[in-house]
Amino acid sequence: MAFTFFFRDISILELIARDVVPHLVGFSKIRIWDAGCAMGPEPFSLAIVLSEAMGQFMFRNIRIDATDIDEQDQFGKVILGGVYKDELVKRLPPAILKKYFMENAAEGTSRLVDSIQERVTFQKHDLLSLKPIGSGYHMIICKNVLLHFSPESRVEVIRMFHGALAPGGYFATEQTQKLPEASSGLFRQISSEGQLFQKVL
Ligand SMILES: C[S@@+](CC[C@H](N)C(=O)[O-])C[C@H]1O[C@@H](n2cnc3c(N)ncnc32)[C@H](O)[C@@H]1O
Repeated sequence: MAFTFFFRDISILELIARDVVPHLVGFSKIRIWDAGCAMGPEPFSLAIVLSEAMGQFMFRNIRIDATDIDEQDQFGKVILGGVYKDELVKRLPPAILKKYFMENAAEGTSRLVDSIQERVTFQKHDLLSLKPIGSGYHMIICKNVLLHFSPESRVEVIRMFHGALAPGGYFATEQTQKLPEASSGLFRQISSEGQLFQKVL
């Protein structure tokens, strides 16, 4: 269930770079919640895409609060270390690999550079508690998680996300996850190219 990889669902990350980043200019703190992040490739991929889209100066304002239920108590340590086996990163574009990872050939691992690592924090959190980790988020990303929940829980979790977002905040999910009818009035889809929504109420 914790299956994940770097640059998974890259099309939604690219939409965020294109359609959300221009609206984040001017905030001195840009807060993002990555819910159900597994062992880290997702929040780090998002950080890399944002770094590319924003440039160094604006990117320093980003904080990604990555959370997962993390039943085996494993993900926090991995995310804090930022070290991944080469087989997990080898499909990344060579220029990205070179710019954002430091290879340890002897160990067969690569470590994220500090500028990316520093932007991501991790805490354990159960989405089904329906208690958000905070409020005032500019964006929440939750991919390949909601499909595991019952239709009722999905609506409740999406309502919780809505409450945790700042006015006009964004919600992103995977291509195949449509917004349930019961929560569709809370958001407007901002692109026909992907599941990217903006809080409207
Ligand atoms: C298939 S992985 C998706 C990882 C990542 N979002 C991605 O798209 O690559 C699903 C993740 O959801 C997490 N998860 C499942 N139930 C959860 C819950 N109730 N609260 C928080 N995370 C949960 C699992 O631990 C797992 O890491």
